[in-house]
Amino acid sequence: MKRIGIMTCGGDCAGLNVAIRAVVQSATLKYNWEVIGIKNGTMGLLGDTPNTVPLDLNFQGFNHAMLRMGGTILGSTTKGNPMAYSMNDGSHIDRSEEIFKNYRKLNLDALIAIGGDGGLKITNDLAKKGGINFIGIPKTIDNDVPNTESIGFATAVSVATAALDNLQPTAASHDRVMILEVMGRDAGHIALHSGIAGGADVILIPEVPFNFDSIVQKVKEVQKSDRSYALLVVSEAAFPKNGKARTVKYHSGDERYGGIGDYIGQELNRMMGIDTRVTVLGHVQRGGSPVSRDRIIASAFGVKAVELIAQEKFGRMVGWDSQDKVIDVDITETLKGYQTVNMDGSLITTARGLGISFGNE
Ligand code: F6P
Repeated sequence: MKRIGIMTCGGDCAGLNVAIRAVVQSATLKYNWEVIGIKNGTMGLLGDTPNTVPLDLNFQGFNHAMLRMGGTILGSTTKGNPMAYSMNDGSHIDRSEEIFKNYRKLNLDALIAIGGDGGLKITNDLAKKGGINFIGIPKTIDNDVPNTESIGFATAVSVATAALDNLQPTAASHDRVMILEVMGRDAGHIALHSGIAGGADVILIPEVPFNFDSIVQKVKEVQKSDRSYALLVVSEAAFPKNGKARTVKYHSGDERYGGIGDYIGQELNRMMGIDTRVTVLGHVQRGGSPVSRDRIIASAFGVKAVELIAQEKFGRMVGWDSQDKVIDVDITETLKGYQTVNMDGSLITTARGLGISFGNE
């Protein structure tokens, strides 16, 4: 009989609840273990009393609703590294002992964190420091965790593709250049995948600094063909050669990528005198119901995470390899890297073969 803890860390995405469900189903049905949900990521293990919820097969209509539910029933946090916890006066303190104490208080045999590269790094470092038996499950719409496809990516691509599908008829009706700004941080996976699936003429990604002349040339080429509208998809962190990525600074001091779509729209309007319109998809890519591929990957990850605990194989991250197979890899080694678009990969060749411009020709 084991007692395992599970938490979600970092930004949410579609499919988190599917992974939680898979862990609970596998742990209870196959092993008869207890599963404790930890609320709001590592925040749930700070303080005198851990913030937890027991998870079992009857939890909130577990069986099917969780397959479809976006967000995370456990809550998450994008703020806070307990080893360098920010205080109001701007200083940082190490609160990791509170985490270790609560892990012991809860009598946990292992901890599963579902997180992106940032959240998994923090929880893995904490686990190593405190001797916690740790397993990581990768999630992020950015798909930038190495050696795997992450939970949430397929849904984000599907949302961005649907947006391009909706933009095409209105672009055609008004002879406009429609610009779709998508998320993805420093990796262009969402833009590349949705751009191919949604028929973009131009895909701009952070891996390929662009120049405006090249985009103008592509739009003119399209205009010379049988249509006078174009679709452009741009990653939030894409930037021009000799320029830098656009960001938005919040009152709190937080900075996020944003504004590149508008910038490109204004420049093309100025340079070509054409009508441009910009759609910023934002968090629409993270919410919503997971597509079937995310449900499948998340289910496989949850079951594999439980298996690894049963085998006492800790310090591992589960993953999905290119052969559609669930695997596990050393988490510390894996998180040293960062998965950007493979410029020699077949999707780049495919896009170029379709005549799509990356704005650098
Ligand atoms: O990492 C996921 C992600 O959605 C990025 O694509 C985006 O840049 C960022 O998080 C947005 O963060 P927040 O939810 O804090 O606005």
